[in-house]
Amino acid sequence: MRASVCGLLASPPPGPRGRGCVVYDTARGVVEEVTEEPRGELVAAGEDLLVLPGLVDMHVHLRGLQLSYKEDERSGCRAALRGGLTLVADMPNTSPPASTPEVVAEKLRRLRSLRLEALLYAGVPPSEGLVDDIASMPGVAGFKIYPRDLVERHRVVERILSKPGLLVVVHPELPEAEKSEYEDPSSRAAGRGCHWEAAAVEYIASLSPEARVHITHASCSSTVTLAKRYGFTVDVAPHHLLYTPPRGGGCLYKVNPPLRLPPEPQLLLKQLLDGQVDAIASDHAPHAPGEKEGDPLTCPPGIAWLEAWPRLLLCLLDRLGGPQLLASLASTRPAALLSRRRCLDPGCPATFTVYQRAWTRFDAVRESKARRVPYLGARLCAETRLVVVDGKHLMLG
Ligand code: NCD
Ligand code: ZN
Repeated sequence: MRASVCGLLASPPPGPRGRGCVVYDTARGVVEEVTEEPRGELVAAGEDLLVLPGLVDMHVHLRGLQLSYKEDERSGCRAALRGGLTLVADMPNTSPPASTPEVVAEKLRRLRSLRLEALLYAGVPPSEGLVDDIASMPGVAGFKIYPRDLVERHRVVERILSKPGLLVVVHPELPEAEKSEYEDPSSRAAGRGCHWEAAAVEYIASLSPEARVHITHASCSSTVTLAKRYGFTVDVAPHHLLYTPPRGGGCLYKVNPPLRLPPEPQLLLKQLLDGQVDAIASDHAPHAPGEKEGDPLTCPPGIAWLEAWPRLLLCLLDRLGGPQLLASLASTRPAALLSRRRCLDPGCPATFTVYQRAWTRFDAVRESKARRVPYLGARLCAETRLVVVDGKHLMLG
C-alpha cells in the first residue's frame, strides 16, 4: 500500500529539505518518491509537522534480566518511541552481564521482539576464543569496553581491538577514576577530571587498534579533539551539553562521567556545530525512583532520557542550525556508525520521525520506569506525532 507523510522535510544535505511529502510503500518499507502532493493514503500532514529521517540513539541501557525493576526492554522501547526514536543500541552492563554467548543470545531474543530496531553491544567476554562467536551473532553491533576491562580483561580487549572494521565503543575513563567518589557534584567533576578521559583515549590509541573505535559520552572538549586526532569517532550526551553541576543537585544530576563546569558545555556545543562530534547519544541510564532519592554518595549514577532528549535538543539546535542539525547528529550519522541507513530519498528505508511543532512542557515520565528525572517542567518545542519503522506505523500521537 502507498502512503504519504507531508510537512517540512528535514534531512541533512543532499537529502530532501523544505515543504513536501515522502511517499512510501508500507509493505516493502521503502521510500518511493518525494513529491509536492500526497499519493496514496495520507497518514499525516500539516504546516507544523517536521519529517525527519528516523532518529537513532546509539547508547542506551534498556536493562532487563535481573535489573528489570529499573527498566526492561519493553518499557524502554515504549519510552524510545514516545521520544521519536526508531533505532537504539543497548549496553551490556546488565545483570548478568551480556558478555557470554548465552546472555547475549537471551538479550538479543528480547530485543528482536520489540517494535523498533534494537541492537546490542556485547561486553568484553571472559576469554579471547569467544570474541568471534559473539561478534558474528546477528543483532550484535559491536563491543563495549568499560574502564575495568582494560585491566581485568586486557588480552581480550587487545583481541577485540585487532579486528579490522569491528565497532568498538569505549567508555573513556581509567579504573582509577572510578574509585574516586565525591558527594558534591562539582568536586566529583574534579575527582573524575578531564585528564582521565584523555588518558583513556591515549591508552586505546597506544594499542594501535584496527577496529573502528568510537568514544562515547565525551564530557570534555579536549576528549573530542584527542579522539578526532586518532581517527576515532565520538558522541556527546545531552546532559553534558545542557547542564552544569547544580548546587546541592543531589542524586538527580549524578551521572558518569560527571557534569562539567563552564565553559565545557559551551565548548562541546561549538565542536558539535563545527562538525567534530559524530553523534548525540543519550546514555539513557534508568534507575528505580527510590534509588535516585538516596544518599548522593552511594546512589547510582545515570539520567533516564529516552522520552525527552531529541525534542529537548531540537529546541536548542533549531536556533543554531535548523532541524537538519538534529537529523544529522541524531539520525544519519549515528545510523551510519551502526551500518544502518536513515534518509528520506527514494530507495531509503521508510523509517521516519514526525514531530508536531508545539511549545509544551515535559510534565511527567509516562513510559520509562525511571520516574525521577532532572528535566521535569522543561520546555519542549515539539510533540511526537508519528514514528514509522520500515513502513510500519508504530506510534500515532
Ligand atoms: C551507567 C548505568 O547506569 O548503567 N550510568 C551512568 O551514569 N552512565 C553506568 C556507568 O557508566 O557508570
Ligand atoms: Zn552508558
